[in-house]
Amino acid sequence: MKDKIEVKNISKVFSNQEYVLKGISLNIVKKTFNVLLGQSGSGKSTLLNIMSGLLNPTSGGTFIDGKNINTLSEKKLADIRRNRISNIYQDYMLLSELTVQENIELGKGKDNLELNDVTKSLGITKLLNKYPSQLSGGQRQRVAIARAIIKKPEVLFCDEATGALDEENSQQVVKLLHDIKEVYGITIVFATHNLKISMTADRVVTIKDGIIAQDIINKAPLSPFEINWGIQV
Ligand SMILES: Nc1ncnc2c1ncn2[C@@H]1O[C@H](COP(=O)(O)OP(=O)(O)O)[C@@H](O)[C@H]1O
Ligand SMILES: [Mg+2]
Repeated sequence: MKDKIEVKNISKVFSNQEYVLKGISLNIVKKTFNVLLGQSGSGKSTLLNIMSGLLNPTSGGTFIDGKNINTLSEKKLADIRRNRISNIYQDYMLLSELTVQENIELGKGKDNLELNDVTKSLGITKLLNKYPSQLSGGQRQRVAIARAIIKKPEVLFCDEATGALDEENSQQVVKLLHDIKEVYGITIVFATHNLKISMTADRVVTIKDGIIAQDIINKAPLSPFEINWGIQV
């Protein structure tokens, strides 16, 4: 695996509309925490979906190991998605009829972390036999993270993953994602409109009007607990 995910000149237009993305190029360095920052409607989800192979760009591509995942066969893409790429979302996407443990095990790939290690890292070991409806939002997102990382992905794409949580739970989830980067070496790409999350990141890429308006390496990222989330920035 190269030490980068390469986004090359990605553009996207949905039928009969303006271009949402207009030639985005970006190298994501492995084992870093990256924020894609932008207002609602700026194209963050579109870009994340293209980078994770869920959506095809109109032109350009996302290269992992030098291979353009946006042009792979369905079978090869499914293999990469099953083993190397994970996504989490604002709404946790857990299956309500399965227990926490069963939900987490759905995320397994070829080569997996130990269930017990993952649940310990996320503080959810006691919840394994519960059902999603019995959990708080913060607990549900931690289960979704466990399901996403059990296969030891190289990259975890997070789309507004704290969007439905209160401040305290948002801080905790962001902290856990930083810990996961450190402990398991998983690259984080987090799309958000929340400036506070960007203050914790190693790198902040701002999307505006379909292009990269700003790309900043953060030399002194803050801990999520150092930021006053009560103040709207
Ligand atoms: N499937 C789609 N069909 C048509 N337009 C879409 C589709 N998905 C997103 N868009 C449009 O693309 C723009 C960017 O959306 P999105 O990527 O969801 O932005 P963000 O995640 O930053 O809020 C919006 O104008 C949205 O309406
Ligand atoms: Mg979005």
